[in-house]
Amino acid sequence: MKVTPLSPVIGAEVVGLNLADGVDDALFARLHRGFLTYGVLVFRAQERLAPETQVAFARRFGALHRHPAAPGLGTDPHVFVVHTHAKSQIANGNGWHTDVSCEPEPPLATILQMHVLPPSGGGDTLFASMEAAYRAFSLPVRQFLSGLRAAHESEHVYRGRYADRGVVDDDREDYPMAVHPVIRTHPETGRQSVYVNRGFTTRIVDVSPAESQAILRWIFSHLEQAEFQIRVTWHESDVVIWDNRCVQHYAMWDYWPEERCGHRVSIKGDAPFYRPGVEPPPPTLHFSHDGLTSRYL
Ligand code: SIN
Repeated sequence: MKVTPLSPVIGAEVVGLNLADGVDDALFARLHRGFLTYGVLVFRAQERLAPETQVAFARRFGALHRHPAAPGLGTDPHVFVVHTHAKSQIANGNGWHTDVSCEPEPPLATILQMHVLPPSGGGDTLFASMEAAYRAFSLPVRQFLSGLRAAHESEHVYRGRYADRGVVDDDREDYPMAVHPVIRTHPETGRQSVYVNRGFTTRIVDVSPAESQAILRWIFSHLEQAEFQIRVTWHESDVVIWDNRCVQHYAMWDYWPEERCGHRVSIKGDAPFYRPGVEPPPPTLHFSHDGLTSRYL
């Protein structure tokens, strides 16, 4: 097995292993370490996984998560079919988001295998490190943000979204929502990351509406800087796992009217929390030709 980083801040490609052969304890320990280190693992040259094989791999990370709005595969409600085609009104994940952050305990990770790809290319998925985004804030801003909480709502995302798959939700009132810290401490690594996203985060609850709007607009544009990202171009049957606690993603929809289809399985997570930790040393200040600049990364 060879693991090659995809950028200095996020992601690694894994080759030389076939997930269809199963994952024993020793292999899982290595993969889990890689998952915590890189946030995103891209497994190339895979066979098409049977739903039960993908589910078994996901179970190595913990109990399975069931999506609060999307229908599952007939044989297993934990398998979410990602499918976009000529008649689709929306494409799943087509915007920066954290999966299901509207729940009090959002999924820990998601494992996606792509089965059908657009013949003319496209349909890449972008991933962004929210730890790198956190580290790129100055110390006073980190301190300011770490005192705030944000509401994550879902009705605006989910109502009517899966109507074409037979989900009738006209009378539904119980769309999940939750309040989470704006800075989240990773429960396994202790690292801090920014935990608001364009998809679900609607407001900062500790400040006025006008302040909330301005702060969120500013954080979102910070998070979306290309320096924190990788862009994964899929090959048929590639499998990707991402750590939903510290990574956001964006599924490109640049291939309409072509088809893209895959299976997604998520793992249950825990309630986000913020625990102050040892901060990296203050930024080093440099004089450059255009004045005083500083590096926070
Ligand atoms: C998702 O957001 O779960 C879908 C990601 C993708 O289709 O690339």
